[in-house]
Amino acid sequence: MPGKKKAVRRKIHLTHKGTASASQPALTLAEKKCILLDSLKTAYKKQYDALQPIPYIKDRLYCVDKVFVEGGIEHVLETQSENSQKERLSSYKNIFTDSSSRSYTRRIVKGEAGYGKSTLTLQLAYDWCNGVQDSPVSAADVLILLKLRQLGNVRSIYKAIKVIYCQVSTANSKDIKDILQRCTTVKIVLDGFDEYPNREKSNRSDILRIIKSNCSKHLM
Ligand SMILES: Nc1ncnc2c1ncn2[C@@H]1O[C@H](COP(=O)(O)OP(=O)(O)O)[C@@H](O)[C@H]1O
Ligand SMILES: [Mg+2]
Repeated sequence: MPGKKKAVRRKIHLTHKGTASASQPALTLAEKKCILLDSLKTAYKKQYDALQPIPYIKDRLYCVDKVFVEGGIEHVLETQSENSQKERLSSYKNIFTDSSSRSYTRRIVKGEAGYGKSTLTLQLAYDWCNGVQDSPVSAADVLILLKLRQLGNVRSIYKAIKVIYCQVSTANSKDIKDILQRCTTVKIVLDGFDEYPNREKSNRSDILRIIKSNCSKHLM
């Protein structure tokens, strides 16, 4: 029976990808969390280990931690005011701890193309994966790094994580939501707002809700 053969082949294929088969018990949420963390760390490592700081040298890739230079971030002292003064941060590690911004839970990093915004996101991913001391993200249970240009019409942050990082794992968007809601600290880093296909659309997007929240503090 050709249909039956196809179904069996599909079952074997799924098992090979690390998902539960009919003979195995379903994975618990804790197990799915381990798989999610593993997928995230593997994907982040691929990105932060592949920097090309010298554009015409294509055959050498560098880890972000080897090329990252500190000291270029200023923070806006009064986020609500148009002409607020700026002050230089001694380190990106202080972006959540400088005294004027403790009441804000989010940070918006602005800068012209090439100023290092994406590189900063990779440094944060490196810090989380490697538990770098004093980094603002190392204590987080989960760090979610999303390049907004990859999201297309995806509006749910959970769906975005599924689509970008968990295509071959059993965790669905609902599992991802359950996993993240049970964490003590989740840090979300969104890169490339200018390239986000949904940026002009309504607040039905989780991404826009996160960015437009008035608990955001501006950095340049
Ligand atoms: N903090 C940094 N230390 C060293 N090199 C950097 C740093 N930030 C950016 N660069 C270099 O500048 C290039 C452009 O930075 P990028 O992060 O892509 O800018 P943006 O995202 O703001 O457009 C990177 O490929 C990297 O080589
Ligand atoms: Mg960029």
